[in-house]
Amino acid sequence: MPAPARAFRTTGPDWWRDAVFYQVYIRSFADGNGDGVGDLAGIRARLPHLVELGVDAIWITPFYPSPMHDHGYDVADPRDVEPVFGDLAEFDALLAEAHDAGLRVTVDLVPNHSSHAHEWFTAALAAGPGSPERARYLFRDGQGPDGAEPPNNWPSVFGGPAWSRVPDGQWYLHLFAPEQPDLDFTNPEVLADLEETMRFWLDRGVDGFRIDVAHGMAKPEGLPDMLPMEDTGLLDDHGPGDHRFDQDGVHEVHRRIRRVIDAYPDRMAVGEVWVSDDDRLAQYLRPDELQLAFNFKLLTAEWDAAALRTAIEHSLATVEGTPAPACWVLSNHDRPRHVTRYGDGNEGTRRARAAALLQLALPGVAYLYNGDELGMPDVDLPDEALQDPIWERSGHTERGRDACRIPVPWSGTEPPYGFSSSPGTWLPMPEGWGPLTAEAQAADDGSMLSLYRRALGLRTTSPALRGDAVEWLPAPEGCLAFRRPGGLVCLVNLSPAAVPLPEGEVLLASGDVAGGTLAADTAVWLRAG
Ligand code: BGC
Repeated sequence: MPAPARAFRTTGPDWWRDAVFYQVYIRSFADGNGDGVGDLAGIRARLPHLVELGVDAIWITPFYPSPMHDHGYDVADPRDVEPVFGDLAEFDALLAEAHDAGLRVTVDLVPNHSSHAHEWFTAALAAGPGSPERARYLFRDGQGPDGAEPPNNWPSVFGGPAWSRVPDGQWYLHLFAPEQPDLDFTNPEVLADLEETMRFWLDRGVDGFRIDVAHGMAKPEGLPDMLPMEDTGLLDDHGPGDHRFDQDGVHEVHRRIRRVIDAYPDRMAVGEVWVSDDDRLAQYLRPDELQLAFNFKLLTAEWDAAALRTAIEHSLATVEGTPAPACWVLSNHDRPRHVTRYGDGNEGTRRARAAALLQLALPGVAYLYNGDELGMPDVDLPDEALQDPIWERSGHTERGRDACRIPVPWSGTEPPYGFSSSPGTWLPMPEGWGPLTAEAQAADDGSMLSLYRRALGLRTTSPALRGDAVEWLPAPEGCLAFRRPGGLVCLVNLSPAAVPLPEGEVLLASGDVAGGTLAADTAVWLRAG
């Protein structure tokens, strides 16, 4: 008899409201076929890790056919699987096994741009100026006497101009790499194709989408110059002077996306919306738009009580008045990992442990990035190992995002630590990571992995973590303290000195609390007495 399927922790249309999602950066999670690159088979093999960890759902970064100029975010065919990662049968098997294990599966949707290897772009180049094929993208004539200047002054997020010229003299827009031409969402064919892609994956049974550059897609009429900016910053929000993102027209695209999702039961979408103004961000969370938008304020805040409190307050203010819960993120594949942001080494790890309890005590949705549960730091790679297009595009002034994308260490004491059967992993793994492996940490009660497992267990079982409100409590200088309606008190000590432990039953602590004090860089969950 087959083993009984494990049920989803929560069911119904709002199953995601307090879910913990786990981001699988597919290249770096687990390699099932020994080519040094993570894949769908690797994810299948590691599902037990995710079940034991206690997450509700996974988000898999793009695994579609791609020439990999931006490691899969340059999609050549959004309705198939890149052979490096597997095939559609492998995806179906993964989906079935994950569901059977009680895990939901969400996938990345990359609507803003395609790959230059997409058949539409090839056709656009062949068809020439003024053709319907070009009208799926943003081709324009250049400025200056012979059109030799780009149509406007927009910079690419990855460095250099956001325009490239084709042999017949026209230019096309690419907010990211030249190999990622932007699609024109005023063209009904573009939206229809996106809807077809969504239905393709929804029909296969995926539980939802993470929408890439969800504040892109709409461009202002006439593509006017933007306020010139020295630092175009990777996906930073530069406010209203930056015409590349957060245009009002983008909301119509989200309404169309939502209509497709609503035609299927219990599906959802989370948007990558790099918009920092609370009111502008809240617009994406209107009842007929996205169910969730990542909160990047925790991901960008310093390890500082006032900064973190401001980040939390703004995030809660954003969702207030919308149907959405907050959606907390500490790390992802685009930013330095939080162990490193918080100072690396013992200090960074101690703070990351405390931050995990902070993130997981907050009401709403939490996204973990693969390796967060192991306390992975960034790795300084030698120049010759760097692969992110940002390194080349910036003229070797920005090292890019490879440091936070190192493959996950699973077992053993030497690279590749069970990630792959091949020593030639796509990004090199450092020496000395034996203690960081999932295997070593599973056997250690005091490890980061054990902390995450306990915290996620309590999120499921303890009534103290119920209720949406956050009541701030008086706290010693440099500390944060809040209470959830269920009775949980979370105290985080960001000051340099120990502080007295408040009254109450200790449910979980990120460090030693014996002796009645909470050490610096430590957090505790208490049930108020
Ligand atoms: C993804 C990046 C990617 C970019 C372009 C982002 O927001 O998270 O990894 O480079 O979109 O698709």
